[in-house]
This record gives sequence, C-alpha cells and structure tokens, in this order.
Amino acid sequence: MKRLLPMLGHTRGNRSAVTCELKCGNACSHPEPNVSGNESFRDIVSGVFSRRAALGGAGAITGALVVSHVAAGTAAADNGNFPKGGGKLPFEPIAPVSRLVDDMTVPRGYQSTPIIRWGDPLFADAPDFDIMNQTGASQSVQFGYNCDYLNVISDGRNDRSGYLVCNHEYTNENIMFPPEYIASNPKDCVDVGLAAHGFSVVDLTRGKQGQPWTYVRGGRRNRRITGFTPFRMVGPAAGSDLLKTVEDPTGTNVEGTLNNCAGGTTPWGTVLSGEENFNQYFKGTGSPEHRRYGIGSGDTVRGWEKVYERFNLTNPEYANEANRFGWIVEIDPEDPNSTPVKHTALGRFKHEAGTTVISKSGHAVVYSGDDERNDYVYKFVSSRKYVEGDKKHNMRLLEDGTLYVARYFGNSPQSEITGEGDLPSDGAFDGYGEWVPLVRGTESLVPGMSVEEVLVFTRLAADRIGATKMDRPEDMETNPVTGKVYLALTNNSARSAGMVDEANPLVNNRDGHILEMVEDGNDHAAEKFSWSILILCGNPATSERAYFAGYPMDKVSPISCPDNIAFDSEGNLWISTDGQPGTLGLCDALHKVTVDGPERGRVQQFLAVPRDAETCGPVIHDRDDSVFVAVQHPGENGTWGAHTSLWPDKLAQDGPVQAGDKVAAPRPTVVQVSRTSGNRSKKIK
Ligand code: FEO
Ligand code: CA
Ligand code: CA
Ligand code: CA
Repeated sequence: MKRLLPMLGHTRGNRSAVTCELKCGNACSHPEPNVSGNESFRDIVSGVFSRRAALGGAGAITGALVVSHVAAGTAAADNGNFPKGGGKLPFEPIAPVSRLVDDMTVPRGYQSTPIIRWGDPLFADAPDFDIMNQTGASQSVQFGYNCDYLNVISDGRNDRSGYLVCNHEYTNENIMFPPEYIASNPKDCVDVGLAAHGFSVVDLTRGKQGQPWTYVRGGRRNRRITGFTPFRMVGPAAGSDLLKTVEDPTGTNVEGTLNNCAGGTTPWGTVLSGEENFNQYFKGTGSPEHRRYGIGSGDTVRGWEKVYERFNLTNPEYANEANRFGWIVEIDPEDPNSTPVKHTALGRFKHEAGTTVISKSGHAVVYSGDDERNDYVYKFVSSRKYVEGDKKHNMRLLEDGTLYVARYFGNSPQSEITGEGDLPSDGAFDGYGEWVPLVRGTESLVPGMSVEEVLVFTRLAADRIGATKMDRPEDMETNPVTGKVYLALTNNSARSAGMVDEANPLVNNRDGHILEMVEDGNDHAAEKFSWSILILCGNPATSERAYFAGYPMDKVSPISCPDNIAFDSEGNLWISTDGQPGTLGLCDALHKVTVDGPERGRVQQFLAVPRDAETCGPVIHDRDDSVFVAVQHPGENGTWGAHTSLWPDKLAQDGPVQAGDKVAAPRPTVVQVSRTSGNRSKKIK
C-alpha cells in the first residue's frame, strides 16, 4: 500500500496545506460544489436595481504580520486589580500573537491548564498513551484526536464533579505517527484514525469550586464513540433504500461517525454534533450527487477505501455508504450505554453547528449551517413540543418536523454593494429573510423530489428552491439575553464580483463576517426574520474593508476567519478563529465581542492558541471565572521529527527515536483558562 499521506499540495485559502487536505479534503482547491443556477438574492429581487460592473482591484488587504498594534493599554498587574467593567470575566485584551509562538497566551491574571490530551486513557484498564505503539484498540479507550465541539457541565450540588463532552473532528497522521510506522502498519494507522474520530465523554473533578478541573480516569460516564461505534438512523429517511448497504439492508444501522465539527447541547441534556467534511473519506463515482457533496472519484488521500471496502462507493454493495454520513448526530453523554442516533429529519449536508433553542410555542428549533463556499443556512422546527423534565420524550423531538433553508434579501440598492465593504447609504448591511420549508413531517415541498431524496440530498433540494449562497456558514448560536441568532461566515474565496449581495458583500471574502438575525416576534419558529452584519472581520490597521459595527477601528483586536461562537451569561459574543495564521500572520484566537450598547462591535482578544492550532469549542463559564477551549491541530504544519509544535508536553527530542523513548509530538488538548487574581469563588447559580 502506498504511503497514506503523500506530499501535500498547496492551499488557496487561509489554512495550511495540511489542514486543507485532512480537515476538509482540499475543498478550496476544487471548484465549489454548488454549481446550481440557483441565483443569489440580488438576482431575484434586484431587478429594480442596476447591476453594477465588475470591480477593480481596490482595497486589497495585506497579509502583514501584526504583532502588537492594538493598544491594549497598561496591562493589569497580577494583583487582582482588574479594570472596572468587562462583565463577569474582566480582562485586559492580549496583544495579538505571532503565528510562530508555540504556547497558550492568556491575559494577565489568568492561567491555562490542560485538562485532557490526545491519547490520555479514559478507563482504569486503558493503556497509557504510547505514541510509538498506538493501535486501534488502545486509541478506542483513549481521548481522541482534534477535539472540536466542547461542553463542560457541572453536576451542581457541591460543584466538585461534572463532565466534559467533546467531539474529535479528524486526524493528522503525518504528526501522529513516524513515517516508518505508517509504511509498515497501514491497517493499524487506519484503525487508529477511525478510533481517534468521534466523541469523548469524560468525568471531571476538582477540590472545590473555583479550582481547575481534572479528568477522572475510569469515571462512571467515561465513553468513547468512534468511527466504529454503532449508530441508529432515525427520522423520515431512516430505512430508505438510499441508506442501505450490503452490511445494513435495513438502512438504519450505521457504523461510526466522522468529521464531527461544531455542535450544541440540547435543553434536554444530550449533545448534537454535525458530520461536516465526510466527503473526503470516500472514493466516489463522479455522479451528480457525489459531485454536489464534493466526493471525488479518485483514490482518497487517506486511503481508507484500500483497507475498508465500505469507503469505496464504486463497489455497488457500498454505493450508499456515504449517504449515511453528513447528518446531525445526537448522543446522551449521561448514559454510556445509549445508542447514539443520526437525525435524517435535519437533512444531509456538511453540517456545522446544531444549536437547539425552544421556541415561544414550545417547539425545538435547531440551527445549522452548511460549511462550503456558496452553500446554505438551515433550521429545523420540531412538530412536537418540548416537555420540561421528560428526557425520553424530548430525545425524540428531532425525528419529526419542518426543515427550512434560508433566503436573505437586502434593503439597499444592489448598486451600493461595492464588493469592497463600503457601507450602503442607509448605513448598514441589513435586510430581511425567509425560511423556505423543504420538508414538513413526511411531506416533501420540493417539486420532483421525494421526502427521502430531499433529506438525503438536501443540497440539491435547496438548490431548487433558490436558497441564498453564503460565505461558508460555520457556527450558529442564540444570544441567551436577547434571543438574537448569530452566524459565523468564515470566508469565501469563491465570492466573485458578480456574486456579491448585501448579506455577503465582499468580493473574495478572505476574513469572513458575522451576521446577526432576529426572528419575527423573536420567535425561533418564525418563518421570517431580519438580519444585519455585525462585523466584517479583518485587521483594523490595514484593511479597508473591516467593519466593527461603527466601533472605533483603533480600539479593536484584529480578527479573521470566525468559526466557533459562544455567549457568556451577559450576552457577550465570543468568537474563536480558524485561519488567522494565513490571513493575519497571527495565532488563532478567542475574542470577546460586545454586541449591544455603546460598545457594540468592540472586539477584545482573550487568548491565542499554540502554533498551527485552531481555537475550537469555546465554553464561557463567566460565573466560574473560567473559559474552556479545544485546541485543535497544534503543529499541523510539521512532520514527524520536524514538528512545528510540541505543545503541550514540550519534551525535547534528542536524535532519532528509539523504541521505549518518551516521544514528543503535539497533542490536541482541552484547556481550561481560569482567573487567578480576584477569583470570586462564588457559587454558580
Ligand atoms: Fe470543521 Fe467548518 O469547521
Ligand atoms: Ca442596508
Ligand atoms: Ca472551520
Ligand atoms: Ca468549525
């Protein structure tokens, strides 16, 4: 078998070549899969507006390294004298951090503590991490790779126990294994890879409230879910012929979950997570359906189809295997024996996010984006109502309901959308929108497509009804204070001058933007909404396009490629980034953004993650003086023996690796950043 990971190509986007290859299957180097004639809203509604000519090259953004231009003021001394204001988690913004720095950078008065790292054993009898001798069996009982979605939940009571749940999006074999190991153990590499995907649930403990959490080896809830774990398909497409394979003639039992990205914790205590770039694991046939989902017809880079035939869609017995991925999955972290499910009612696409909120009418609403250049934003509204305290009932809410896709319309003339970030004359990129239903219950609302077809080939269905092409929808979250919905649009290298619209107003949107949505009547089940752009990301010192809701440009931190988002208890938005090394020359970051009041649009950088890493899964426990992040793919640009990061272990490598050596390599890690000065140690309410 050839080496699993040949020389990697170059990237057109913001990420490293390695990230592109392994995370999303080089999505940006292929034509965007959405070639539908489905036009952006400008074409639909702007007949009254003149179509503007293609733009010139003004307003180019430089990629200059900016290390410290943000005036952070005098950093607070480490004595507890924090600045007034700043909410429940006061901090002085850190200066932006060069992309070469291989460590966590946190504000003065805070400390960073790893909670659990790739390979840490979850069970009493699980083997200790031995990077030179990993097997599928050992990996399946150890913490997985590339942690992404994250939640940390206290049990309450004395506040000394709780658990952590996170998913593991993908694997970086180049820095997980020595090349000789890859060459001589091809099946083991695949098995470790499959076992390093999925989820981890891990019990946590601490001596008292306010102290950092540590993980409990052998905790009662500890669980690994992997690429081998049985899942049950539920909802209207379960059992469909489109989901059957030779190994599962029922179309209801799937082996494993892959590429789980952003997610959410439901009001009933389960965790949702989106199967995102599932296409990269499969060798396809070149069918229109495969092309629309980015499934290539050549050998995959990972080569898993050479070890497990189910990844080879050209084998008729497994022709539908890829249809069994690309779903929102739901797991019950409190029951390690439960069978996780894949929800067909929420449609199949490159799901990013799965944010659940209960509408005024009591229905469960789930927001989710499709992370691809020029793909769409969706929501699902359950037909049945949420019942407080009835977990069994609530765990079936996502099996039946209405799946919508979003259309965005601007309120300014198209001629005022210059593509370079100039505000329209009404002073805002804003407008209204509608949620267009694709399926209600078991009824298809898409002409020419059955319910099963709409749910399995949702992208094609949304093409037909004219959904709005967006700049790579990433995470979506609802503000717990105002009820507004926030959408991170990470960037779009495929947004041409002829395609700009008021909701996606930048040509070649390199730095991304944040869109704010208000459902009609602030009812999450509404079918209409208004929207506005909160931030056009960028380097405020050099970008002519960046926009921070009118907040002074010299008082904000640079920010690019927004990805995962979260809120604190006061309704401040926290944005983690994925791509700042490429666009700004800076380590990826976590920023706090004020969204209401006179400081609306103020971006303050809270932390930076180590070299080559992406900031994922922010969890803001401001009442507990803590922020948690999943540090994903540290050192991803390195190779074995030439690592660009050795975080968090930092063990020196001294010459060629010998059997039995304690070997250092970067390890994706969940980190707690907690306040050491002025810690209030008050009870969580
Ligand atoms: Fe896995 Fe769209 O980020
Ligand atoms: Ca406007
Ligand atoms: Ca991302
Ligand atoms: Ca993401």
